[in-house]
Amino acid sequence: MSDSVDQIEKKLLQAIEKSVSPREVLRAKELKQLYSQLPSLPPAERSAFGQKINALKKKLEVAAASREEDLMSSERTPIDVTAPFDKNSPPPSLLPAEQGTIHPLNTELARIIDIFTRMGFNAVQSRQLDDDYHMFTSLNFPENHPARDGYDTFRTSEGYVPPAHTSTMQNRILKAGRKDLEKGGQIAAISYGRVFRNEDVDATHEHTFYQVEGIFVSSDANLSQMLGTLQSFFETYYGQKLKIKTQPAYFPFVEPGLEFAIEKPAALGGKPGEWLEMLGCGMIHPNVLKEAGIDATKYRGFAWGGGVERLVMLKYGIEDLRHFESGKLAFLRKFV
Ligand code: PHE
Repeated sequence: MSDSVDQIEKKLLQAIEKSVSPREVLRAKELKQLYSQLPSLPPAERSAFGQKINALKKKLEVAAASREEDLMSSERTPIDVTAPFDKNSPPPSLLPAEQGTIHPLNTELARIIDIFTRMGFNAVQSRQLDDDYHMFTSLNFPENHPARDGYDTFRTSEGYVPPAHTSTMQNRILKAGRKDLEKGGQIAAISYGRVFRNEDVDATHEHTFYQVEGIFVSSDANLSQMLGTLQSFFETYYGQKLKIKTQPAYFPFVEPGLEFAIEKPAALGGKPGEWLEMLGCGMIHPNVLKEAGIDATKYRGFAWGGGVERLVMLKYGIEDLRHFESGKLAFLRKFV
């Protein structure tokens, strides 16, 4: 009999500790049953048993009151949303202990921007959504010209264009710099950012990648200035002297148009005569200057544009372009 009183005590105390309305436990049927046993007990035992269950009831009342107090005071403790999680609750065991890092493309892009801004170029971020006018028309791509097809351009259902090259910023940069030019200054800017092409993805093609574009306009800009600027950029970026060469290429917005290549440095595993094509460039087509309201008889410009991943892959010996957009931690950790 007394064993079962102890068991009931244990059970009800546990119930109180877990309950959000602990006083309810005081009305438990187990307690009522204990009282209902009293009349049937022999008179000699009745008084001791009565005292026992009264003591139990007191104990439960005290426990319930203290549990109620706890509940109320925990309600009053404000949750500090700015505190580290362990101040409010134990840390979830699955939370990663490592901090994130800057993506290698962002680190390298910052280096590239730094080199050009030290040379005197302003840097603007390229748009990630644009229109046909900026992507093609303002760049001397005639309406329905097959050259437009070469850019594998995505389109939104509303007819907007996630740009396929950073040249989509040229018209804006030229327009914004026109006044400086007329005051005897120059336009010197780079645009950088994400571009998109509807291409099959493989080790050297991605649907999403980064480009950096340069524009320079003055009264006497010429190709040798452009080649000097580019050579100096690449030598700074790779930290060594480099051989360069060009070959003719066609882009509607430059005339002449060129492809610019560097000889793969021996330090990066290159053999003499191994050329790597790095970007497209040329003298800005007079129609592009005119479209931005710049007098093409008074001013000349050059422009270049190329992929960022290619530079980074050469620098670090990365074989597969797809690593950059993969989100693979094993790849990203190599750049910490
Ligand atoms: N926009 C061209 C491309 O993505 C590169 C380029 C830029 C060529 C500027 C010439 C001048 O293919």
